[in-house]
Amino acid sequence: MQGDTGLPASPAEWSGWWAPYTDDIYREALAALRPGQTILDIGAGDLRFARRAVALGCRVIAVEMQMSVVQSGIGRGPLPDGLSVIIADARDWPFPSGLDAAVLLMQYCTDYALYVRKLRAVGCPLLVTNARWRLGVEAIPLAPAAPYRADRIGWFACVRCGHTGFTPGDPALITEEVAEHVTNVEGCPACM
Ligand SMILES: C[S@@+](CC[C@H](N)C(=O)[O-])C[C@H]1O[C@@H](n2cnc3c(N)ncnc32)[C@H](O)[C@@H]1O
Repeated sequence: MQGDTGLPASPAEWSGWWAPYTDDIYREALAALRPGQTILDIGAGDLRFARRAVALGCRVIAVEMQMSVVQSGIGRGPLPDGLSVIIADARDWPFPSGLDAAVLLMQYCTDYALYVRKLRAVGCPLLVTNARWRLGVEAIPLAPAAPYRADRIGWFACVRCGHTGFTPGDPALITEEVAEHVTNVEGCPACM
């Protein structure tokens, strides 16, 4: 849907408009990958990240729903060996097994929880994304995280639903270390 200006009306809609990230973001994501891995790139845009991951030595399955965006990427050079492109809606397309990691560079993704469910169902161990904090890139282990605890003061980030927050408590207990640490949790107040 578009606003009166003809432009997307919300950040979530902007994420459906392909726009490239900076090299810094791509470098951060590549740093979480290793040569020889099989990667699922969800919402791959014009394949510029996927091409970089292949150059690193990964085999990449790139899923993108906008044919025109993929075509513009293909127009920039032949697809390298090791890059498979799927034109599909990643919400419906069945994820393959045998993945070493998934990459979700989609800052305003509204389907984080769905993708985590689908990746866990096929045994994918790692999600590299900027969708949870909407800032830099993080590598999230998809193994079950510690259950959320309401009595644990500090930052938390939910692996299951992507919600992030700060559990309040006695200010005297909020040390610098507490303020800087983020705990990956499962079953936070937003997803219970
Ligand atoms: C912000 S762009 C980022 C593109 C790419 N990940 C990059 O970093 O260069 C997000 C892309 O995700 C695609 N996308 C969004 N939802 C999708 C879905 N459900 N299935 C497939 N692609 C999707 C959009 O079409 C858009 O090209």
